[in-house]
Amino acid sequence: MTSFLSLPVVSPRSIPTAFSLKRPFIQTPPTLHFKNHRFAVSCSYAEAGVSGDSKLSTIDVVADVKSERIVVLGGNGFVGSAICKAAVSKGIEVISLNRSGRPTYSGSWVDQVTWIPGDVFYVNWDEVLLGATAVVSTLGGFGSEEQMIKINGEANVVAVNAAKEYGIPKFILISVHDYNLPSFLLSSGYFTGKRKAESEVLSKYPNSGIVLKPAFIYGKRRVDGFEIPLDLVGEPAEKFLKAIENFTKPLSSLPASDLLLAPPVSVDDVALAVINGVTDDDFFGVFTIDQIKEAAEKIRL
Ligand SMILES: NC(=O)c1ccc[n+]([C@@H]2O[C@H](COP(=O)([O-])OP(=O)(O)OC[C@H]3O[C@@H](n4cnc5c(N)ncnc54)[C@H](OP(=O)(O)O)[C@@H]3O)[C@@H](O)[C@H]2O)c1
Repeated sequence: MTSFLSLPVVSPRSIPTAFSLKRPFIQTPPTLHFKNHRFAVSCSYAEAGVSGDSKLSTIDVVADVKSERIVVLGGNGFVGSAICKAAVSKGIEVISLNRSGRPTYSGSWVDQVTWIPGDVFYVNWDEVLLGATAVVSTLGGFGSEEQMIKINGEANVVAVNAAKEYGIPKFILISVHDYNLPSFLLSSGYFTGKRKAESEVLSKYPNSGIVLKPAFIYGKRRVDGFEIPLDLVGEPAEKFLKAIENFTKPLSSLPASDLLLAPPVSVDDVALAVINGVTDDDFFGVFTIDQIKEAAEKIRL
């Protein structure tokens, strides 16, 4: 008798537990077969009290489980390291590409990431992208107009096109909230670059691209070996703005009011929203601050 069972989504680590229910019947140890990021398990069994090969049956379990392998561009940065840490904790294989490679601090999650030192403009993508199921870009930052267009815009455009060329099914971009700024401020290199990157993701990945648009992100930011506890400001500000949101909503039509009123979001929420994007194929498009928090909650539950 051959049976094909569809299992609910389970992690590879839980398979032995699932099989232990049938332990008295199992004659051969289960074998795992991996193909196209899916895996199947097969083993032979006989009913209790029955001996002899004639009663042996084989059960094949084809589990609809994808083994995820993500590439985080900027995995040692403030947001990137939270994403790597969260992904590792969910059993996702993680590769980071950033110029300085492995961070200087230690941690068990740090050892579980493959750190590839390299610049997104010069990297050999073969070493980075082969076999990946998603690319997550945290590339971005401040500087001169030219630098901001380059790192927020061009670097991401290069990455999106490389991912597309290598057939990577999903691209997740950490962008930024628009703060309802007047258009003359949105024309700065920072926002021009971000918009360029967003439209590249959405046009090359119309059915799977993800753009997260957080405002201020708080957490513990590491700078030159020191930890800056941005959460001391960010967390109370998030709670306060939530408590008064009914009063502040009418102000949101005022230009640039979101510079004061857009709620901060924790770096862990951004990371969990990314994990939700990696694991849920129905999650794609552009996500606001509130939607980032909702997506994070789904993973936290
Ligand atoms: N922090 C916030 O409050 C906030 C709020 C809203 C949106 N965002 C957006 O979120 C993203 C991440 O921000 P963050 O604060 O985490 O930035 P970050 O700490 O400066 O991290 C940037 C990462 O990019 C890497 N990187 C820079 N240039 C690179 C290149 N040419 N090739 C490869 N890697 C490169 C850096 O590592 P190396 O230097 O080693 O290359 C670093 O790992 C940015 O796009 C930012 O605009 C941040």
